[in-house]
Amino acid sequence: MAENTQLVPAGDFENIIGSTDRTAQLLETAKPFMELMMQNECALRELETKLNVLNDEFSTLYNYNPIESIKTRVKDPLSIVEKMHRKGITPTIENIEKTLNDIAGVRVICSFPEDIYAIADILTTQDDVTLLKRKDYIANPKPNGYRSLHLIVGIPIFLSTGKKMMKAEVQFRTIAMDFWASLDHKLKYKHNVKNPEDIAAKLKECADSISELDYRMQEIHNRIERESWDSE
Ligand code: GTP
Ligand code: MG
Repeated sequence: MAENTQLVPAGDFENIIGSTDRTAQLLETAKPFMELMMQNECALRELETKLNVLNDEFSTLYNYNPIESIKTRVKDPLSIVEKMHRKGITPTIENIEKTLNDIAGVRVICSFPEDIYAIADILTTQDDVTLLKRKDYIANPKPNGYRSLHLIVGIPIFLSTGKKMMKAEVQFRTIAMDFWASLDHKLKYKHNVKNPEDIAAKLKECADSISELDYRMQEIHNRIERESWDSE
């Protein structure tokens, strides 16, 4: 390259500086939102650790893992804006934090229904976890057959500026309920299915069979536990 060749011609330089300014401006506007996302990620990490601790403890003490798997997700920005729009509320950071309980979401998949209640109870009696809302769709399934235990919990995170209370939605289901919910979810998002009512009716039947199976499996599991205890 010749000695005095400029990488950017003089005229374009202004433009680039200008656009850098705009980028900086945009980043500045996006920062509080990115902060909110980061804080929700932190809340998820706290909850996931708590659940993993419980699972490890059960594994050591009773040689048994009540939790099959844990999935976490932060609601994506588009869904956040969409949901705020649906509720007719301006999506400012403050409004989003106040309105939405499920920016941070945890799904806990358990082997048996009794594990769901046991883990949910232990989690919500920890002194830094606050139970804000509880919806038991296992005891009271939705009309379509959906079953899960939903909790909205409050949990603190510790930032450089101090403690901040966060909210998260924790869904508990069995492996079988999760299997069902993913198929049901598919039905919701496919708009061109033929006979959706028939499919919904079949799904409802499956939900009821799955529930019966879950409790039969629970019973067998309890028997195995009892009878192996007896012989020790
Ligand atoms: P939204 O969060 O706006 O749905 O309202 P809500 O907080 O009153 O809902 P709810 O607690 O009943 O459900 C929250 C979440 O549970 C949903 O976002 C889904 O992930 C899940 N869920 C609820 N009902 C169904 C269902 O019928 N099928 C499936 N597959 N998932 C469901
Ligand atoms: Mg919700």
